[in-house]
Amino acid sequence: MDKNTFYITTPIYYPSGNPHIGHCYTTVACDTIARYKRWQGYDVMFSTGTDEHGMKIEESAKKAGMDTQAYVDEIAERFKKLWEFMNISYDRYIRTTDDYHKSAVQNIFVKLHDKGYIYKGEYVGKYCVPDESFWTTSQLVDGKCPDCGREVIDAKEEAYFMRMEPFAKRIEQLLTETDFLQPQTRVHEMVNNFIKPGLEDLCVSRTTFKWGVPVPFDEGHVVYVWIDALTNYITLLGYENDTFNDFEKFWNGSVVQMTAKEIVRFHSIIWIAILMALELPLPKRLYSHGWINFGGKKMGKSTGNVIDPFILGERFGVDSVRYQILRDMPFNGDMDFSNKLMLTRINTDLANDLGNLVSRTVAMVIKYFDGTLPNGTPGCASPTDDELITMAGALREKVDSFIEIPQLSQALSEIFTVIGRANKYIDETTPWILAKEESDKPRLACVLYNLLETIRICSSLLTAFMPSTMPKVFEQLGVTEADVTYEKAVWDSNRSYSVVKGDIIFPRFDIEKELEELNNDND
Ligand code: MSP
Repeated sequence: MDKNTFYITTPIYYPSGNPHIGHCYTTVACDTIARYKRWQGYDVMFSTGTDEHGMKIEESAKKAGMDTQAYVDEIAERFKKLWEFMNISYDRYIRTTDDYHKSAVQNIFVKLHDKGYIYKGEYVGKYCVPDESFWTTSQLVDGKCPDCGREVIDAKEEAYFMRMEPFAKRIEQLLTETDFLQPQTRVHEMVNNFIKPGLEDLCVSRTTFKWGVPVPFDEGHVVYVWIDALTNYITLLGYENDTFNDFEKFWNGSVVQMTAKEIVRFHSIIWIAILMALELPLPKRLYSHGWINFGGKKMGKSTGNVIDPFILGERFGVDSVRYQILRDMPFNGDMDFSNKLMLTRINTDLANDLGNLVSRTVAMVIKYFDGTLPNGTPGCASPTDDELITMAGALREKVDSFIEIPQLSQALSEIFTVIGRANKYIDETTPWILAKEESDKPRLACVLYNLLETIRICSSLLTAFMPSTMPKVFEQLGVTEADVTYEKAVWDSNRSYSVVKGDIIFPRFDIEKELEELNNDND
């Protein structure tokens, strides 16, 4: 029988500047979910890419003194390098300048036109140049762009429009009657600000720039950003093209899409309307997370307050950076990034709690049992063990449920609660005192076994989050890949362990010294 499929998408990023830690957040989050799902046995498709058309890109290339195609080629390469560096296991990378995508977009445009959903009209309204967004006067905030707060200009031109009204009722039902949009707090804003006042028809072509996909039946018009960009999620599977052949397989209602909150409207209303117009299945979930802020403002190219993930990864380790951003981004809010927060998180959770648990446990098994604990824990259990065993045994189910929402910070918090419980268990059971009496040796074996089993379960569950470090823990535990499968990430009282001393897994940082060096680097 075919395996169940799972398709997860990141937004396709604008190559109008270098990627930063904000882009990293969404991609690392999707990567973690993709890895977890593969581990659960799903047949996974994980996509990312770059959104390379539009006036903004044309302008950025001009500013850099480069030909537009050469410019996007260079920046797309930088995104790919970053994803390699961050250990991102994407299956497909789409560039909207790829030929197969461009011709598929044209086919889709014609299809929507033939169905009567796209018509020619005249656009009159307010336009935000940097955001390439049209707004009605009532949507402006203090007369400025509601997304970025910048000035808007009056604009009027011939353009194609897509009818939105036929889909309004069904979109509202999707948002209010299902758990499609997460966190659910965003539903209210979408319904009250956009659907209730009446969905306006969407401007889907432009004549003011050339860098885009031409409208096939009307020279001078190029397909305006959202039909070009949003359809990437299906063209990369082979919709309306022969380059790929996975559309039927993956576009089937088990799709999870992730974006940050500023493009939730495009994904929860416009994209859904396009899919409805094409009579295609809808994604199962859209998760729109908060922003990584820096100094109180959204980190972004336009504010210039960007943090370079290459520098952080090289100094602190890629897995530590992955961990911190996933752990500190709340499900329903923003995260204020600082180097100090990152270093504190790494020292506390990774070096102290997890790192020490592994090194202390392995050292004790070596010291008291020459590294080997055979045959599980026969007959020496004590009620002191119950809480730890129950917590570790139930952990996989909890993590599964948080991956599903997806609430990654909470999933990590659950795992580290068990790690914290295991450290407390060492204090409660005092193995070094048990080691003094030969008659306590069986009990000591049982205590150390419970610790090893807890570490095995926790590190198995952490692999999707920190894929290059957890194998180092497995090495020290002396377990193979077959011991850390999804099926085996539950409590087992009948294993045997042969541990191996290894290097420190997460080094501790001298926070003051690191901060000083980072500041000097910025000078
Ligand atoms: N090209 C459009 C998306 C089209 S999707 C069909 C776009 N590109 S972007 O380069 O501006 O990327 C926006 C996305 O990058 C956000 O939705 C989010 O996923 C990620 N982030 C960029 N900056 C971010 C933060 N400061 N914090 C969190 N995520 C951030 O919009």
